[in-house]
Amino acid sequence: MKRDFLEAVACRRSIYAIGPEPCAGYDRVAEVVRHALLHAPSTFNSQSARAVVLTLEPHRRLWDIVLDTLKGLVPEDAFRQTALKISGFRAGAGTVMFFEDQAVVRDLQERYPLYADKFPEFSLQSSGMAQFIVWTALSDEGCGASLQHYNPLIDEAVAAEWNLPSSWRLISQLVFGSVREAPLQKSFSPIEDRVLVIGE
Ligand SMILES: Cc1cc2nc3c(=O)[nH]c(=O)nc-3n(C[C@H](O)[C@H](O)[C@H](O)COP(=O)(O)O)c2cc1C
Repeated sequence: MKRDFLEAVACRRSIYAIGPEPCAGYDRVAEVVRHALLHAPSTFNSQSARAVVLTLEPHRRLWDIVLDTLKGLVPEDAFRQTALKISGFRAGAGTVMFFEDQAVVRDLQERYPLYADKFPEFSLQSSGMAQFIVWTALSDEGCGASLQHYNPLIDEAVAAEWNLPSSWRLISQLVFGSVREAPLQKSFSPIEDRVLVIGE
């Protein structure tokens, strides 16, 4: 890690203006994603997270799928703006798609019926942890990235395009690339109101 952990946490931002130049080698990106999924905590160590790393042409194919899907749904007058946004993502270097394996969630529900209603929620929390590790690590490598959610609109097309298991539920798309523009300044609500320290 190039930065101290807490500094890396603070430096991770949503970067929307991205380019195709390699910000980290694709091997390194794959290594980061494997590391995150290997070590992210999960309920009962169920390891329900799955990921697909798309680079180059498959990355562009994903954003073509998103655009084609939205074409039929977004009103014509708003579509120009939508198309611009999607082409900005397509201009990046790659996308990490995060999934949660529902077969794992169902198996937990059968084995631990007492917590059955909690497992879908725990699975999403665990996914968030894996996503955060990847996002922060890619930022630390010098990549710009933003987290997108075109699921569930694109779920069927994505599964068909890459022949993915039907139990994999798409959760998010982290699109990354070289940093073209620094993020805007971020405002913070007072942290004293948000964190209570009780006791010494
Ligand atoms: C669970 C979650 C969902 C988000 N969904 C989206 C999204 O669909 N599209 C998007 O552009 N940003 C999305 N974001 C990014 C947030 O808008 C962003 O993290 C927030 O405004 C703080 O900015 P920062 O990432 O630069 O710190 C999401 C973030 C989180 C944690």
